[in-house]
Amino acid sequence: MPNLNPIYFDHVSSTPVHPEVLKSQSELSLLHYANSEALHDAGHRIASMVEKSRESIAALLKIKPESITFTSGATESNNAIIKGIAFANITKGKHLITTSVEHSSVLESFKQLETSFGFEVTYLSVDKEGRISLDELKNALRTDTTLVSIMHVNNEIGTIMPVKACSKIIKENSTAYFHVDEVQAIGKIPFDFSFVDAASCSAHKINGVKGSGLMIVKEKVKILSLITGGQQENGHRGGTANAINNILFAKTLRLALSEYDSHLKQVQLLNAYLRDELKAIKEIIVNSPEHDVSPYIINFSVLTLSSEVLLNWFNSQGIYVSAQSTCNSKTKHVSITLQAMGLSEAALNGSLRVGIAASNTQEEAERFIKVLKEGLVSYGSPLR
Ligand SMILES: Cc1ncc(COP(=O)(O)O)c(C=O)c1O
Repeated sequence: MPNLNPIYFDHVSSTPVHPEVLKSQSELSLLHYANSEALHDAGHRIASMVEKSRESIAALLKIKPESITFTSGATESNNAIIKGIAFANITKGKHLITTSVEHSSVLESFKQLETSFGFEVTYLSVDKEGRISLDELKNALRTDTTLVSIMHVNNEIGTIMPVKACSKIIKENSTAYFHVDEVQAIGKIPFDFSFVDAASCSAHKINGVKGSGLMIVKEKVKILSLITGGQQENGHRGGTANAINNILFAKTLRLALSEYDSHLKQVQLLNAYLRDELKAIKEIIVNSPEHDVSPYIINFSVLTLSSEVLLNWFNSQGIYVSAQSTCNSKTKHVSITLQAMGLSEAALNGSLRVGIAASNTQEEAERFIKVLKEGLVSYGSPLR
């Protein structure tokens, strides 16, 4: 590897922990190791800090504290919400709707309900920009539909789904609940929980700790708890709570929201630079749409090289990117989103995802482009 600092462009996968979160984590861990359910003062102290965190998060998200359950991350939240709602409303119907481009924790939850429990699932298609059609959603709704789950920001290409318009259609045409996977949206693009019935969030995507998430379920929603065996989290999720993580979530979210504008500005600049440079290379197509897209994600394909060759090349030069959703990186070889968008074989085989953060610099973006061009030359893919 050349003697240069590595460049991390994989912030969609995970982000570094914010120094202030890290500081609180070590201070809290030293002092507050008691079980938050314990009936002594040490337990009460930590339980009260968890409740304060829940209240702060609720205020920041403009929801009620009672609708928040702390989880181990968004994979758990997605599983618990989707299966919990499906099972609790089984007498009303067994039809569910989602999109063909969700994160694997959503898609696999629906697949399991289909194959092991006899549910019927409609997977909405997407257009060339990775966006669902509102007409298709409207036509898919039935009297026996109990849940619709649609992600806010696609984690592979950054497309923003029209979740507010989806909510209106669902409410006007059915009695189904509406769940939104907010993982790549929260702290990065505007969000609004007022029109959703349930939502999932994850701390490590916004400079929080790993193994920490939120499951947001509004009061009126009928849901079955999947993890039973304890009084914790008002009976919604049994098991000794990771109280420190739950306390840190409030600080993580507060910091992400307070730094929202400055982060967005820097990320937009880097995205625009990368997009322009990538568009000027003959062998490359940019897969992330131009509009209604998160600037934190830019996905492109090199039509003459495979993702594997590109990943290895970047890695050998100390630049870290992804080929697709990291959760699929060991099982599938092409991105499910790009496949659903109907991209050519060459585009599917040569895709890369750059996860930008405000901590990335213009110099890093320039080095990324320089290394990419050098790679195209050294692997025999001549430039224009
Ligand atoms: C859109 C989306 N949903 C859910 C998840 C899962 O989150 P976690 O890592 O907290 O389980 C991810 C993680 O990549 C994601 O991008």
